[in-house]
Amino acid sequence: MTLLCNELNGINMAQGLCDLDVPREVLEGAQNALIRGENSYTSSYGISELRSAIAMKQNSFHSLDIKEENVLVSTGATGAFYTTAKILLHPGDEVIVFEPYYGYHVSTLQSLGCKVKFISTTPPEYSIDFNKLENLISEKTKAILVCNPSNPSGKVYTKAELESLGKLVKQYHLILFSDEMYEHFVYDDTTFVSALSIDSLKNNVVVVSGFSKIYSVTGWRVGYAITSAEIIEAASHINDLIYLCPPAPLQHGVLNGLKNLPLSYYKNVAVEHQKKRDKLVKTLNDSGLKADSIKGAYYILADISKIEGTTTTEKAINLLNKTGIATVPGKAFYHATSDMHLVRFCFSKKEKELDEACRRLRELI
Ligand SMILES: Cc1ncc(COP(=O)(O)O)c(C=O)c1O
Repeated sequence: MTLLCNELNGINMAQGLCDLDVPREVLEGAQNALIRGENSYTSSYGISELRSAIAMKQNSFHSLDIKEENVLVSTGATGAFYTTAKILLHPGDEVIVFEPYYGYHVSTLQSLGCKVKFISTTPPEYSIDFNKLENLISEKTKAILVCNPSNPSGKVYTKAELESLGKLVKQYHLILFSDEMYEHFVYDDTTFVSALSIDSLKNNVVVVSGFSKIYSVTGWRVGYAITSAEIIEAASHINDLIYLCPPAPLQHGVLNGLKNLPLSYYKNVAVEHQKKRDKLVKTLNDSGLKADSIKGAYYILADISKIEGTTTTEKAINLLNKTGIATVPGKAFYHATSDMHLVRFCFSKKEKELDEACRRLRELI
């Protein structure tokens, strides 16, 4: 869709890039590090000061007790997930994933030879059927994976849901992988609860996250995993083998962001994105493309039944041709091919571009 969009010089609401300006503190941190000569390999765990700063930030946001030894800096959340999953999972292991899902989670697990078992959740609440979930657990099941807040559904898991997941994880000796990339993109009166703060998950959780979205640096490839010191130690060897380390000056860039950005920065990101969500949801509904007011992350799965085409892909292409707006056909987030006529819009766009997209969508009426 991005290639088609580029051909048409359209508005790319398909890719999940964050369109915030990169904070000055982050840019200066990287620039100064380059000039200072921080251009060599770092430890395969990541820079010690960055590991501590990540621990401190997460402790202050979620009242946790994470230490440097619990943090691995990797090449994005993608690298953090790959390295920890490689250590904890083996070919033939089963992992349960909630659907709709983020494609990289499933592809990563499949690349490790794991069998992915899907449990479907449906809008608007995307509630979990815990009986169904428990019935899916077999002797081969090793892990459950959540994306919280979820790309693409926008679901934000409640504390009660995480506690119930924790009970199952403990009872069946599983691991919970929790991708918390969008933890600061949470709206209305919704509270984000990190899986790290759930007692029953204390020794069996791996949280992956990173700076791609919150600092708008998807190309920098700096993310992290937080889990037990033993898993971090083991995963650091995979990190070393595959990546050596994320780019040294860019680690310093995000470190400077962590040290110097005020709390208001993170709050403001949510406030600004909430306004963008409201604008797009209203426009979509006014234009006859049904959309819910999601609680977290910055995507909207909208029903585009009204657009011509027999499959969602055809509809998405027709929408692109009509409006110049690219979206992701919903089948990217579901394993079965049943066509729900959903497409994903990313609303983390600059105000002018979002306004133009809304204007074009309104012309559909
Ligand atoms: C849920 C989720 N996790 C991870 C990533 C990728 O993160 P990174 O750029 O840190 O590898 C994305 C990117 O879209 C995402 O949506």
